[in-house]
Amino acid sequence: MTDAEPYVPDTTEISRLASAVRSCRGCGLYRDATQAVFGAGPEDASVVVVGEQPGDVEDREGEPFVGPAGHLLDEALGEAGIDRGSVYLTNAVKHFKFTRPERGKRRIHQKPGRTEIVACRPWLLAELAATGPEVVVFLGATAAQALLGSRFRVTKERGRVLDLPDGITAHAAKFVATVHPSSVLRAPDRDAAYRDFLADLRVVAAV
Ligand code: URA
Ligand code: SF4
Repeated sequence: MTDAEPYVPDTTEISRLASAVRSCRGCGLYRDATQAVFGAGPEDASVVVVGEQPGDVEDREGEPFVGPAGHLLDEALGEAGIDRGSVYLTNAVKHFKFTRPERGKRRIHQKPGRTEIVACRPWLLAELAATGPEVVVFLGATAAQALLGSRFRVTKERGRVLDLPDGITAHAAKFVATVHPSSVLRAPDRDAAYRDFLADLRVVAAV
């Protein structure tokens, strides 16, 4: 089994990590994606937000959270009093996984599998070591389980301030798990889903 480890340079410089990720072959996802989408934001960010994987827009633009889910996230961060500019935004998996049904042009998002999430984890760990945040926000189960293991339940633990396991950052840090902004966009009662999402982000703002 391969993973990203051999491709991750031994550095805490985000810019060096971001340039190295472009040649990662740690799993098969690099083949069909346009490019790797690394995290973005200040190297000394006190908040790191972890999503699932780049979407269609992110894959084309090469930046995280610039599509519809990103716009909703921006709005909620702003309303919670968290400045997007002070947040480091990244994803559990750095390449877009998709299918093209019936040879159509449209690319449909596919959930990354356990193998890909585990393969890509060294990049996420390197980003957390480089930024050394006080609080990590996991958006959805994929993000949370990438670091906390597949038994972690976002539905049960969302909106609570919990301790990040030792050894992930140099100093003790907290984390808050919540849902993914895409799930808010898809929710039957979108207003209620947005309110709950915002409530979780307010918890982050208060840490
Ligand atoms: N969804 C994610 O999880 N990450 C992105 O960058 C965009 C959408
Ligand atoms: Fe490497 Fe992650 Fe891309 Fe797989 S998804 S090729 S592990 S950067």
